[in-house]
Amino acid sequence: MSLLMEPPDLPPYCEEDLSPAEAARQLAQLNAECVKDCKRCELCQNRIQPVFGEGNPRPKLVFVGEGPGADEDQQGVPFVGRSGQLLTKMIAAMTLTREQVYICNIVKCRPPGNRTPTDREMETCSPYLFRQLAILRPKVIVALGRPASQTLLVTKTPIGRLRGQFHDFPPPELARPGLIPAKLMPTFHPAYLLRSPGEKGPAWEDLKLVMRFMGIPIPARR
Ligand code: URA
Repeated sequence: MSLLMEPPDLPPYCEEDLSPAEAARQLAQLNAECVKDCKRCELCQNRIQPVFGEGNPRPKLVFVGEGPGADEDQQGVPFVGRSGQLLTKMIAAMTLTREQVYICNIVKCRPPGNRTPTDREMETCSPYLFRQLAILRPKVIVALGRPASQTLLVTKTPIGRLRGQFHDFPPPELARPGLIPAKLMPTFHPAYLLRSPGEKGPAWEDLKLVMRFMGIPIPARR
């Protein structure tokens, strides 16, 4: 299966501008009917539970990570472990809260040993994410790290060359009736920032571009 092909048995894309309550209902339905018991790939064999996503059902801003880690697998909530704590700080630095944005991943189930999901796993799972995005209708998507950035932009360009500028989402290969245009900012994954704190400055520059685009005042440095 390639990213360009849609599995025939998934529900149609949402094509409406939904109220927050109806968007929340449709997200819960997508999770309950398609994701919760998904066995489309081998990641279902080791998971405790899929991690669908959480946050504002009609956000201006969506963060897309790679896949759940051990803490997320345990709790069923994205970005709650060490990387999650850093992501929460990054969101707070943008003067936002986790409740104001939506947070999810390319793959919904934990890759064993926290390995990078394979291309096939990302291709198999991403139709769920695309359906989520059609319901959420964000203005801006921040793709965290290489796998999320490359999957959402259908490219093999390295993250170091993708980051620092906005890209148009969806790229032509992912045009779907319900996927309305958004600006996508690739940046470094919080797990990478924990290993390479010297890259926090460039990541903050990326987030400041997002804030500027969204009309959020940038706080003076303390
Ligand atoms: N890393 C991710 O990419 N996603 C999570 O939910 C947690 C850690």
